[in-house]
Amino acid sequence: MSIPRLHPDTIEEIKQRADIYDVISEHVVLRRRGKDFVGLCPFHEEKTPSFTVSSSKQMYYCFGCQAGGNAIKFLMDLHKHSFSEVVLDLARRYQVPVQTLEPEHRQEFSRQLSERSQLYEVLASASQFYQHALKQSQGKLALEYLREKRQLTDETIGQFNLGYAPAGWETLYRYLVEDKRYPVQLVEKAGLIKPRKESTGYYDVFRDRIMIPIHDIMGRAIAFGGRSLGEEQPKYLNSPETELFQKGKTLFALHQAKAGISQLDQAVVVEGYFDAIALHAAGINNVVASLGTALSLEQVRLVLRYSDSKQLILNFDADKAGTIAAERAIGEIANLAYKGEVQLKILNLPDGKDADEYLLARSPEDYRQLLANAPLWLDWQIQQIIKNRDLKQATDFQQVSQQLVKLLKNIENSDTLNYYVSHCAEILALGDTRLLPLRVENLLTQIAPQNSYSSQSAYLPRPKQPRITTQSSTQESKKTTPTLEKSLLEQAEALLLRIYLHCPEQRQFITDALEERDLQFSLSHHRFLWQQILEISSVPLEQELISTVQDRFLEFPEEIELVSHLFHLNEKSQKEILRTPQVVQAAIACMERVLREKRYRHFLELWQQTDPQVEPERWQSYYQAFYAEKQRLQELDRQRLFSLPELL
Ligand code: UTP
Ligand code: MN
Repeated sequence: MSIPRLHPDTIEEIKQRADIYDVISEHVVLRRRGKDFVGLCPFHEEKTPSFTVSSSKQMYYCFGCQAGGNAIKFLMDLHKHSFSEVVLDLARRYQVPVQTLEPEHRQEFSRQLSERSQLYEVLASASQFYQHALKQSQGKLALEYLREKRQLTDETIGQFNLGYAPAGWETLYRYLVEDKRYPVQLVEKAGLIKPRKESTGYYDVFRDRIMIPIHDIMGRAIAFGGRSLGEEQPKYLNSPETELFQKGKTLFALHQAKAGISQLDQAVVVEGYFDAIALHAAGINNVVASLGTALSLEQVRLVLRYSDSKQLILNFDADKAGTIAAERAIGEIANLAYKGEVQLKILNLPDGKDADEYLLARSPEDYRQLLANAPLWLDWQIQQIIKNRDLKQATDFQQVSQQLVKLLKNIENSDTLNYYVSHCAEILALGDTRLLPLRVENLLTQIAPQNSYSSQSAYLPRPKQPRITTQSSTQESKKTTPTLEKSLLEQAEALLLRIYLHCPEQRQFITDALEERDLQFSLSHHRFLWQQILEISSVPLEQELISTVQDRFLEFPEEIELVSHLFHLNEKSQKEILRTPQVVQAAIACMERVLREKRYRHFLELWQQTDPQVEPERWQSYYQAFYAEKQRLQELDRQRLFSLPELL
């Protein structure tokens, strides 16, 4: 249904009816302070309330993060919904008749609207019915199944509104149509009953099954999955597609997971309903389940709305079906991943278990650990390609390298490509470092048509024409890298200093990391500030350090000009600082990278200028030196690329 333009009167009426306190207090615990209300801001992490709601102005404002607006704006930002989505939802909720600007749409539109809201009602009633039945004697076995076989607490059962569809042919039918007087066509449209083929009348779609309601993002029931208690097939029976429920646009448990996804900035997708339920029960609540089908692009977009840095982990079964499912799922999102629009990781649990089974034997912490170590999608693909292959066999070797080339060809980001070309070359060199340059060269030739690579691969060796490239590559490096690197470096250094100043708990870590890796600030005013900081070290409080440094700087007006922005936090830097451990890592990686890159170029040049026939040992040692630098560079790129791409 395309959304027609709403009449200004409708919008105005909704603004009138949707009281800001009502709307916000559903999502934020508000306490009265004077004539306003205050609470913890849902848009940023905070421990003391700076989020203010004013009934008289019908506005909210956060003094911490400057978020502000009216009730509609609040819902748009919170649910990441569009203006019209929010307005229509509010219209339904406050029973505001919707008028559109196009009169011909009006009637059809309000008919659809009222049918939709009736469908929601029918599904909510059905869900109540199933939940009730679970607690009755007829639901005894089902409840036992949930408690014992699935190890679920009553709290979890309640949290997911799990229920039981009784065994008769028309128990739900009687309840909804005869008792509650819903029109039979409506109940049929909701996917809950079907007309009998042999005779007149209707029968229940779900019978003698555990009922798992599927909710939309707002938490309204829109469909059901029903699991058989024993061996009856199918194991799961799902609602048919209806006006409210489209499989490819829905994810199970998204409404329970969205807060967790935002908070952890990462979403996990599992295959089964019970996998998601078990993970939530274990306190891992950034998890949704696909509905037994391949993930669609739309589902991925839906779940990634809640993750700023677009991190997605697919945890599909490691068995054959699961691997196929993962590959199918990847098929749909591969394009996003190649472009770097999603940071995709794949988790296969040990022994071919699914998350539900895994958690029966292991702790939530174990699962979290596996999540943290899940390989990036491309690494996983590479693992799949070389799995069960013997690269010493000519045919295997050839097939593997072809498949790797196919994979590499699609990578758009040149840093990522650089990284994976070297990685694949290492695999194909089978541990013989002397073969590496050749393997790199071969891969490059095969993925050459795109040709963006050679111009950007600043740090990969090109041993075939050593003496010719020596000159051009050094010239190139002088020309192209410094400015880009400088601004990146400047950002990284500034970030690190800012964190040092404002986050006392990070100070030790930063000092240690810089010392350990022997890193210097390269911009002179940063070096200067760092010097000042070290001289007044061991100042305990944030404010004291900043003001003491500022005092010292009074004598150096020129330098203070360049660093004074570090003493204050604006909206952006405040956000950056919230994710300090990642930011610190990435910033340090960025600083170290510059150092390594210089050393890399230095050794590479020496290597290229050395004749292996004349001085084989020296040639070999230069090779090892630049190779070691290159490996470190790759590792740093990985940290940089995948920890905070938008910042550094
Ligand atoms: P699985 O077959 O992997 O089972 O289905 P599971 O989730 O581990 O099931 P349990 O633990 O034996 O209960 C994964 C998902 O695929 C869909 C369901 O969404 C299920 O959760 N599915 C599976 C169906 O829709 N129909 C089926 O018959 C089977
Ligand atoms: Mn299972």
